[in-house]
Amino acid sequence: MAALLSIQGLSISFGGLTALSDFSLEAPAGAITALIGPNGAGKTTALNCVSGVLKPDAGAVSLDGRPVLGLAGHQLARRGLTRTFQNLQVFGRMSVLENVMVGLHGASRREFGAAMLRLPGVRPEERAIGERAWEVLEFFGLAAQAGQPADQLPYGDQKRVELARALAARPRLMLLDEPVAGLNPAETDALGSLIVKIREQGVGLVLVEHDMSLVMRVSDQVAVLSGGRLIAFGPPSQIQADPEVIRTYLGGGEEFGLVA
Ligand SMILES: Nc1ncnc2c1ncn2[C@@H]1O[C@H](COP(=O)(O)OP(=O)(O)OP(=O)(O)O)[C@@H](O)[C@H]1O
Ligand SMILES: [Mg+2]
Repeated sequence: MAALLSIQGLSISFGGLTALSDFSLEAPAGAITALIGPNGAGKTTALNCVSGVLKPDAGAVSLDGRPVLGLAGHQLARRGLTRTFQNLQVFGRMSVLENVMVGLHGASRREFGAAMLRLPGVRPEERAIGERAWEVLEFFGLAAQAGQPADQLPYGDQKRVELARALAARPRLMLLDEPVAGLNPAETDALGSLIVKIREQGVGLVLVEHDMSLVMRVSDQVAVLSGGRLIAFGPPSQIQADPEVIRTYLGGGEEFGLVA
């Protein structure tokens, strides 16, 4: 069976800098594929190429065997691919509930605004959108904050709002760029468990993360990028013991809990 997400030979340069070089990766459904590597390794660039933010110089990306390179975010969401961003992207003045509903209008903020302006009467699809948004808020423990402006929530809650928006559209594949960055250990633990629950729903996840204890706890397979190249790929136990990975990334490793 074909992988849910298949990335083949992605390359992209910015001026003289090669950010990704012939990068290939497959991510199955119902599994967590971690993408790790030092700062500047090309992890976010890879997600940006897959999600249509950047146009690679070479390579191909397919979802369920169908090419997706060049599709915009809302088209990808309809195909079942959503993402979150390394830099928090919530609409600060909108309520938490509205932030999640944006993910269900499957489109830009502008379309969402138009939907909100169709005031008289709530159409059936909008009722369904509301119901789904509440369901996802409950899943993320955010129902009590539904009516609050998103920017009044603590940072950790805002990170969950962004994830809730990405999950609302019932994606088959989610790309998460450092979902626990800036969270405290308890929040990290809780979010790790939610990510595992999302996998249990059959969703495939690509998890870019520097928190190695989280990566090793939840991942089914780990890909390691360094200088835009894939230097290792395998199950977490193998990656933890890989001499090149230790040298290039996990080197000063006590902080990652990887060196005895
Ligand atoms: N739009 C861009 N224009 C120019 N250079 C870029 C652009 N995007 C990324 N780069 C460069 O490409 C390289 C890879 O960056 P990228 O953001 O993918 O790294 P990363 O692995 O996500 O790092 P981090 O762990 O710090 O988030 C870096 O040298 C970065 O400066
Ligand atoms: Mg990054």
